[in-house]
Amino acid sequence: MPKPLKQKKQKKSEKAEKENKASLQSPKGMRDILPIEQPLWEKVKKASQDTANFYNFSKIDTPILEKAEVFERGIGVSTDIVEKEMFVLKTKGGDRLVLRPENTAGIVRAYFENGMSHMPQPTKLYYFGPFFRHEQPQAGRYRQFHQYGFEILGGEDDPVYDAQIILAGIRSLEELKIKNLSLQINSVGCRNCRQVYRRKIQEYYRRFSAKICKDCKRRASVNPLRLLDCKNEKCQPIKEDAPATINYLCAPCRSHFREVLEYLDGLNLPYSLNNFLVRGLDYYNRTVFEIFSESYPGALGGGGRYDYLAELLGVKKSELPAVGVSFGVERIVELMKIMDISGLPKPKAKAFLIQIGKPAKKKAFLLIEEFHKAGIKVIESLGRESLRAQLKVADKEEVEMALILGQREVFEESIIIRDMKNGVQETVPLSKVVDEVRKRL
Ligand code: HAM
Repeated sequence: MPKPLKQKKQKKSEKAEKENKASLQSPKGMRDILPIEQPLWEKVKKASQDTANFYNFSKIDTPILEKAEVFERGIGVSTDIVEKEMFVLKTKGGDRLVLRPENTAGIVRAYFENGMSHMPQPTKLYYFGPFFRHEQPQAGRYRQFHQYGFEILGGEDDPVYDAQIILAGIRSLEELKIKNLSLQINSVGCRNCRQVYRRKIQEYYRRFSAKICKDCKRRASVNPLRLLDCKNEKCQPIKEDAPATINYLCAPCRSHFREVLEYLDGLNLPYSLNNFLVRGLDYYNRTVFEIFSESYPGALGGGGRYDYLAELLGVKKSELPAVGVSFGVERIVELMKIMDISGLPKPKAKAFLIQIGKPAKKKAFLLIEEFHKAGIKVIESLGRESLRAQLKVADKEEVEMALILGQREVFEESIIIRDMKNGVQETVPLSKVVDEVRKRL
């Protein structure tokens, strides 16, 4: 039997309502960071900024949009990020811009564009901000996420800088009281030894060409190092016996890596060598590493050396020694929740201003500005009318004093100061209240 017209209409309007609701939700993989979470975010910001200050990294903010070439040339066209994950937009003027998927390539661009290469070297930079990757959203993986990071550019390719980058990263997490950290490290060599390794791994995988996944078949010819990054079940046993980069390092790369490890040993910083660690961005050479916590399933941060990035971008004809690290803030905040780590406490107000009646509300509204001028934080609940309701809020906010303006006080140009601990009240002239509160702080 055909559905009655009324029922059909209702179904249609329900569908429209559902669609309307969905179109007003935040984009897939992008979240609101609500006030309740902000104290945790503030704590991560403070820990990263304090670490940057201690190790002498200066803050830099680069645009959220960069020209597409910055990432295509820098990260590499055959990487997942550039192949599948960039949010690309075309401006009215015809420029192809990208919502930055990471910051290292943009930082190298900014370093040359702003003449930082002419300053005393190395240049140590720190950043905190949003990044965008069009990935399949899941726990710890978003389309808009945040990173903080440390980069050392210019000067020598001294292994001490690799160690300092790792150290600064670990210290920033320790500052947050994140425990059970582990560091995985590898060396992917330089242009010279990578050629040899490339041939070795291609030779090795050729034997298994019928057994490996579709992606690996492509990687084997386009970007053989990424074969070690494969997560496909059927490739795992093959990967396990694959030749390790570390066994094909040239003498200078071997000695560079040994020195990095010696610095870490000197700090008593434990690490494990991971022969399969190659990382998903093409700009790395020599040291690559990732940092984990036992209590979280994914990497909290990762980084490495990227001496060829300036050349890849075409901003320099020769190498620019550089090394850096970045951390995923969403993952750190999730871990802080798992570990029951509290956020940065909100600055506490000293006094709560209570008003009863319209004339008192008008006076209270202006009085708050007197406190603002004096730099004393006073809070209020101007929407509430009753004394009891306002005292309840004052109690909850754990203020030391309540300042009470009733009809009588407005008439007498006075105000009551009530000590919230012992309930003792004193009436003072309204014109003196700021000084009287200051005296009691
Ligand atoms: P990355 O390994 O791609 O490296 O990202 C660093 C960290 O950012 C990851 O370990 C993870 O915590 C976080 N992250 C990455 N993608 C997402 C996502 N979709 N959702 C949530 N968190 C994410 C880089 O970005 C390099 N620029 C690191 C570097 C700095 N290398 C040298 N200097």
